[in-house]
Amino acid sequence: MQPPLFIANWKMQLSFTESLECFKAIERGLPQTGFSGRIVVCPSFPMLSSLVAVSQRVSVGAQDCFWENRGAFTGEVSPAVLADLGVSHVIVGHSERRALGETEEGIAKKLASALSAGLVPVLCIGETAEEHRQHQRDRVLSRQLEALGAVEFRSGREQIVIAYEPVWVIGRGQAVPESDIRHAREVILTTLRERYAPDRLSRNLRIIYGGSVNATNIRGVLSDGAMEGALVGSASLKTEQVLAMLAELRHV
Ligand code: PGA
Repeated sequence: MQPPLFIANWKMQLSFTESLECFKAIERGLPQTGFSGRIVVCPSFPMLSSLVAVSQRVSVGAQDCFWENRGAFTGEVSPAVLADLGVSHVIVGHSERRALGETEEGIAKKLASALSAGLVPVLCIGETAEEHRQHQRDRVLSRQLEALGAVEFRSGREQIVIAYEPVWVIGRGQAVPESDIRHAREVILTTLRERYAPDRLSRNLRIIYGGSVNATNIRGVLSDGAMEGALVGSASLKTEQVLAMLAELRHV
């Protein structure tokens, strides 16, 4: 088992000063948590280079990117520029972006471009409340995994993170039951095994969970190989909570 991956998604919740303070406080507190995995903090775009400048053990990720590296695309952000800045990961297809009109086709293109720019894409997939009510979870996961279809696995070393985020529990304070998390992981693995040769993805693919993860439930999310990491929104906005979650993961 690889050491756990912890990704903080700060969305548009913190000011510039708050982001910098929180990031530095996480760096300072990290040694005491005993956490030996990888931690990635995703602030909004304007904070990226300032956080990269002070980063030591904590990596910096972006919350989105465009699929072209350069050109007349007002307001978009180039994956190549993110990589140049020292950003390591980029979230693609977060449900909050899908809700604003992001298409499956766009997500697939962003994922492929992020990979070729040398970033680790964090592909978010998961069913909405309505899809949950209609028992569509497995079908939705399988369909959203088609975003990987545009990826040419050239080196076999490409790193990809898939985040299962049931949209209906995001920001609600209560994660889905561990049995559902394990089931979703199985669905994702089975779908990928059906589509790709076993050695193509396995080594560098991580499946993580997001949706109301906090210090109380994070150990359950990762225990016994349920998931290999967590994508955390609300509970990642306070330094003490981040450090408490990382301390919990020391035992995983
Ligand atoms: P949450 O958000 O932890 O507040 O549920 C997770 C996410 O949106 O990635």
